[in-house]
Amino acid sequence: MEPIVFRKLSQIARDTAGISLRPGKETLLASRIGKRLRALQLDNPVEYLQYLEHDDSGEEMIQFLDAISTNYTRFMREAEHFVQLRAAAERWRAQRRSTIRLWCAASSTGEEPYTLAMVLHDVFEGFDADIRILATDISTRALATAREGVYPAEVVEPLPSRLLSRYFSAERDEASGEKRWRVIDTLKRMVVFKRLNLATPPFPMKGPLDSVFCRNVMIYFEQRERAALISEIERLLAPGGLLYIGHAETLNNIATKLKRVAPSAYEKCADDDDPEGEP
Ligand SMILES: C[S@@+](CC[C@H](N)C(=O)[O-])C[C@H]1O[C@@H](n2cnc3c(N)ncnc32)[C@H](O)[C@@H]1O
Repeated sequence: MEPIVFRKLSQIARDTAGISLRPGKETLLASRIGKRLRALQLDNPVEYLQYLEHDDSGEEMIQFLDAISTNYTRFMREAEHFVQLRAAAERWRAQRRSTIRLWCAASSTGEEPYTLAMVLHDVFEGFDADIRILATDISTRALATAREGVYPAEVVEPLPSRLLSRYFSAERDEASGEKRWRVIDTLKRMVVFKRLNLATPPFPMKGPLDSVFCRNVMIYFEQRERAALISEIERLLAPGGLLYIGHAETLNNIATKLKRVAPSAYEKCADDDDPEGEP
């Protein structure tokens, strides 16, 4: 890919979705847009750039962002966070909370929000609480898989067999005959999937949110987008609410009152708490 085309496409990715494609990622970008070139019957990245720039419908921008986003995820990823969520949920249950609101901010193909739903359902079973998980992502392709909630055997493999048998039903893929696992409706009803671009705050949600999982997405962002996102999450969190970020991510160099309470976990202090001097 010619350097000028790479520069322009990465500028578009940065301006529209905050996604940073640094020099050296030319081959990655070329391979990711290859499918779009074939679908549009274009010969090379220059033609693709022109097509993208002149597509007033906005449809190709959605496709471009789908193509360049990295959707890697898995059930129970960075599992300590779910142990912490379970402990928080047990506190909420003891407090007889009637509504619980969570936001999974980069939900990819659904494994993360369904893991949240399993933990909460498990803790609150038999209690009358209104639990809702908003799950958002920029990728329409990932969201479609998430909404369907059907996964091949190797994807559900990290789940303990107790959770798998409780929250999934087994079926056979009609075409391949392979076994697949479908998320049960009880869990699906707890999660609402929506497309949301994290690089364009403020967001339409009102809050207050009990927890936000924003993991393994800021890693692709520049500092300015990270700071704006964290400030928006801080606004939406309830006092005492928790933010979880990815283990490879940090809030260092971001002005925030969120207090680190565990690795990659931050709490919004109540107004009269002083976060200064805390770990
Ligand atoms: C590596 S996955 C992480 C998924 C999940 N949070 C986890 O930790 O397993 C990153 C996700 O962020 C999404 N993403 C990237 N840029 C985004 C943006 N500007 N707004 C919303 N989602 C974005 C991608 O589509 C992708 O699904």
